[in-house]
Amino acid sequence: MDKTQIDEIKRRVDILEVVGDYVELHKSGKGYRALCPFHSEKTPSFYVMPDRQFYHCFGCGKGGDVISFVMDVEGFSFTEAIELLAKRAGVKVEKRARKDSYPNFSDILEKALKIYRDYLESPAGEIARRYLVQRNLPKEWWPYFEIGWAPPAWDYLWRSLSRMGISSKIVIECGLVVEGPRGIYDRFRGRIIFPIRDVTGRLVGFGGRSISGEGAKYINTPESPVFHKGSCLYLLNLSKNDMRNKGRAILVEGYMDAIRLHMAGFHETVASLGTALTENQGELLRRYARSCYVCYDADTAGQEAAIRGMYLLQSLGLQVRVVALPANVDPDEFLQKEGSNAFEDLLSKSLPLPLYHLEIREKFLKDLNVRKKVIEELLEGFSRIPLPDLAPFMSQIAAALEIPRYALEAMLLDFKANMKRGTEKKGKRGDFSVYINRQKQQKQKKHVTDAQEAALFSLLWNDPAKRRGLDEEHIFPLIKDVRLKNLIAALLNGESPEELEERWLKSGDRFPLEALALGNAFCQQFDEGVDIFDVISSSLKTKAMKSRYNVLYSKMLKGEATREEIEEMQKIASALKGGREDK
Ligand code: CTP
Ligand code: MN
Repeated sequence: MDKTQIDEIKRRVDILEVVGDYVELHKSGKGYRALCPFHSEKTPSFYVMPDRQFYHCFGCGKGGDVISFVMDVEGFSFTEAIELLAKRAGVKVEKRARKDSYPNFSDILEKALKIYRDYLESPAGEIARRYLVQRNLPKEWWPYFEIGWAPPAWDYLWRSLSRMGISSKIVIECGLVVEGPRGIYDRFRGRIIFPIRDVTGRLVGFGGRSISGEGAKYINTPESPVFHKGSCLYLLNLSKNDMRNKGRAILVEGYMDAIRLHMAGFHETVASLGTALTENQGELLRRYARSCYVCYDADTAGQEAAIRGMYLLQSLGLQVRVVALPANVDPDEFLQKEGSNAFEDLLSKSLPLPLYHLEIREKFLKDLNVRKKVIEELLEGFSRIPLPDLAPFMSQIAAALEIPRYALEAMLLDFKANMKRGTEKKGKRGDFSVYINRQKQQKQKKHVTDAQEAALFSLLWNDPAKRRGLDEEHIFPLIKDVRLKNLIAALLNGESPEELEERWLKSGDRFPLEALALGNAFCQQFDEGVDIFDVISSSLKTKAMKSRYNVLYSKMLKGEATREEIEEMQKIASALKGGREDK
């Protein structure tokens, strides 16, 4: 793709309009602010600057131009983002620019889909139409899911495509036909066709269900340059907006399960196509949803591979909840029998992954022959969950395992350390490495300053009344960071947050806005009605007293402390003690 085309696109689209399709923007000085679409926050730290056509989030650090925004928010590659923006801007992108995406493949797949779709509607498609209707998938829905029918004939598709002048080589590469000793024949024969599209809506492959009971119940397009089963989620293109809006994804196993849920109004549903979940699939979901409701058949949900997949999702940052279906019923059947209210009910009764795992293994804990193994399995799983996510369940876990809480915590840390050592030594890229890499990344993103000090700053920034009622000598002793002290001084001297913000953005000084985002995020953890300012200042006060005490104490040990200093030390000690006794 040449540079002038990219510049042309960037000139024609306005970043404000594009971003505005995803988040609610509010004017703020010369720019706009919004809640960041890339991380969870309650106070906006995401800025768009129309004059410079860029965005930046001071909370999570994401930023860039309109192209990188589309890449991040849609999960697109560079080329895909360009295509979307080009369409918007009415700029024609030359075909050869799509070298990385095999344009012919999708075009040919689209042609095949049209043939399958037409065949379903043709007189000869009667048997397939009857099957669909009998499965309660009425014809009004066929266009929505683009359902087709591959007739049982040997080479119907191949003959139609070759009549269009398409070479056998490329149709074989697409996985639509197979070359056998007696010639070329269709891969999908006598099967209902479910087209599979990627996030951008590009057709990448098909699933086909046999209606005669012959052969495997389902087959898929084989791996090809455009079809990677492990990077697809069935119906993702139709569900990503609802996932984003509802903040949750529903994950099922089968094509028909996903279809049924969409029909019932659960448009945030995707299917994993019957394979073990992959990191790619998890990352895709993570882009659009914060929580994932896993709704597998009762028989698979408890299986090791399924559990491993769920932990993979959780380690990627999704809050996984497991939905329990009655035995021998899949979501498709459940919805047909019980209806969508009953399903919503199941969703609300779903269990967070660690509690679910505990529940299905609980009975084995009583059996002394397997108890040790089961505990190990559970701990291995739990240790993949970031500690803050696990914290709410710790006492329940400790009780169920009959292990004291402090011991459980130690065991988990041990487990984490062992796993880490294991993966590092062997250098093997097990699923666990995902988690470790993530931890490393998190560690690398060092905080700009102390979160509590930043929180005081953000509270003052957000609350004019608080600024007026405060003088410097009360707050300055609590703040160690000189940069924060200066910012707070500016606020207390009556400079308006709007002016300050404008100045920071202009000068490109990141510290104040990063500190603000950190402080806002810190305040988010408190319940409503708590006097956060009070809580934080007394905690900082205690911290300051403790560190002063330590200084004096070591002086005293060295025999350097004056009489006044020893007195001060004793005063601090009794004040600290008094504080504790209050509680
Ligand atoms: N699957 C597959 N190959 C098979 C069987 C299943 O790829 N031989 C995948 C398909 O994606 C299927 C999913 O696993 O949708 C779930 O399989 P299963 O529960 O057996 O089928 P259902 O989804 O219940 O299909 P149906 O309702 O059409 O019987
Ligand atoms: Mn089924």
